[in-house]
Amino acid sequence: MIIPRGEYPSNVRADLAVARILAESEVDESLYPRLLAVVGESLEWEFGAWWELSRDAVTLGCIETWHSASWTARDFESHTKRTVLRRGEGLPGRVLATREPAWIADVTADPNFPRIAGAARAGLRSGFAFPVQSARRPLGAIEMFSEQRREPDRELLQTMASLGSQLGQLIERRRAALEVNVSNERKRAILEAALDCVITIDDRGRIVEFNPAAERAFLYQRDEVIGHDMAELIIPAQLRARHRDAFARLLSTGKARALDQRLELTGMRADGSEFPVELTITRIKLPGPPMFTGYVRDISDRKRAEAELRESRARIVDAADEARRRLERDLHDGAQTRLVNLGLALGLARTKIEQPEEVGPLLDQAIQELVETTQELREFARGIHPAVLTDGGLAPALQAITAKSDIPVKVSEVPTERLPSRVEATVYFLVAEALTNVARYSKAKRAEVGVRLADAWVHVEVRDDGRGGAEPSRGSGLRGLADRVGALDGRLEVISPVGAGTTLRASIPCE
Ligand SMILES: Nc1ncnc2c1ncn2[C@@H]1O[C@H](COP(=O)(O)OP(=O)(O)OP(=O)(O)O)[C@@H](O)[C@H]1O
Ligand SMILES: [Mg+2]
Repeated sequence: MIIPRGEYPSNVRADLAVARILAESEVDESLYPRLLAVVGESLEWEFGAWWELSRDAVTLGCIETWHSASWTARDFESHTKRTVLRRGEGLPGRVLATREPAWIADVTADPNFPRIAGAARAGLRSGFAFPVQSARRPLGAIEMFSEQRREPDRELLQTMASLGSQLGQLIERRRAALEVNVSNERKRAILEAALDCVITIDDRGRIVEFNPAAERAFLYQRDEVIGHDMAELIIPAQLRARHRDAFARLLSTGKARALDQRLELTGMRADGSEFPVELTITRIKLPGPPMFTGYVRDISDRKRAEAELRESRARIVDAADEARRRLERDLHDGAQTRLVNLGLALGLARTKIEQPEEVGPLLDQAIQELVETTQELREFARGIHPAVLTDGGLAPALQAITAKSDIPVKVSEVPTERLPSRVEATVYFLVAEALTNVARYSKAKRAEVGVRLADAWVHVEVRDDGRGGAEPSRGSGLRGLADRVGALDGRLEVISPVGAGTTLRASIPCE
């Protein structure tokens, strides 16, 4: 590696040797000792050290030393390795501060040389150092010492300064490449581990990234999809045109409803089967043509669970309504029978009209039967699916409950057409419960009921001018209503500010 002596001056030889090392080798751990060696040997100096700037750019620490074969002063070498210098301190600190090379003809006479005693014991006299730096920042310094006193050599220092810059650039580039590698690896690991599908497309809609979760969900291998049109592969045919329009709009305007929002859509697997997905699209903000990343989640399970829940709630409501109808029948039959008995008792009394002593007990019995029947009827009547609803629909049924109310109730609007019986029953029980609450708690002067049909939705509102403060968690009535309404895919709102009346508002779809 050493360039033959005599042919070139020593600084040129050092430069050539270093150039060869830089051209030939990777920047790794072995660079430091080899470089110190070629510089030292070409220039015929005895000891060299490589100082690296700490991460916080405050101190210099020695990371490598070299000495010629003939020179032995282990103490100075190990002392150097343990030394930490601040900016401006010692020979390396000085070149770091000035970012210029420096030369000390006699280290033993220099006021700013902390290792002076050691250097003297090791027989070192002259030293020079130069910064290792990139255009952006200093990275460290290299120093060399000689046993002989040597006078400053400007040409040598210039060569070394340019060597320091080359080294600096090389090291900086290498570090940047390493950082990119590490960051790429980290990104890859995140994509690999993600449970959501992560799919990135370029400005032509072609797939550039397809993570393992996407492979599992869409049943494609990454290699099969990279570079292919995403729409063709994972969007069902009937939705493709819409996707392409939206994508074209996104590219031309930079805007889209879909960006950074959760959307529920349909995805298509490699076998053509479709499944519900939740999608969020983000634009990747990098220079160059736009790229978009979609985060896709298979929501088949969630959709299935939601449908099951809805169906089971609907079943509960149906079962409850059915039970009420049965009660209604039982009641009619029971009451009817009792009344027949009553008629019979009265008829018997009528035949005994000539024997007053026998008529009295018969009439007493009839009166007792009548009292008990009335009592029983009253108890049964509470909350039972009313025949009037089944027969006449909402208008007469609501008329009947509002007529019974002690507080004046105005019915502003009720549809005259019949609605699905589940919807009618829910509206009926909502109004009944709301008006019962009004009577029990509100201290209202008046109340108002309105039922409006619009776009296949029925909107119910019951409002009072009472004291407000209704609180569903305090009872079961309002919560039961919310369940009933929810089971039909509707919404219930309770608006009840203290002192300002209560409004119950429900919207129920009636397909
Ligand atoms: N119109 C209203 N005005 C004032 N307070 C009300 C009104 N409606 C309900 N509340 C208050 O809200 C609470 C909850 O009402 P909810 O109907 O859910 O239960 P409840 O009437 O107490 O019991 P349940 O309906 O099961 O017989 C009531 O206890 C009452 O304090
Ligand atoms: Mg109640």
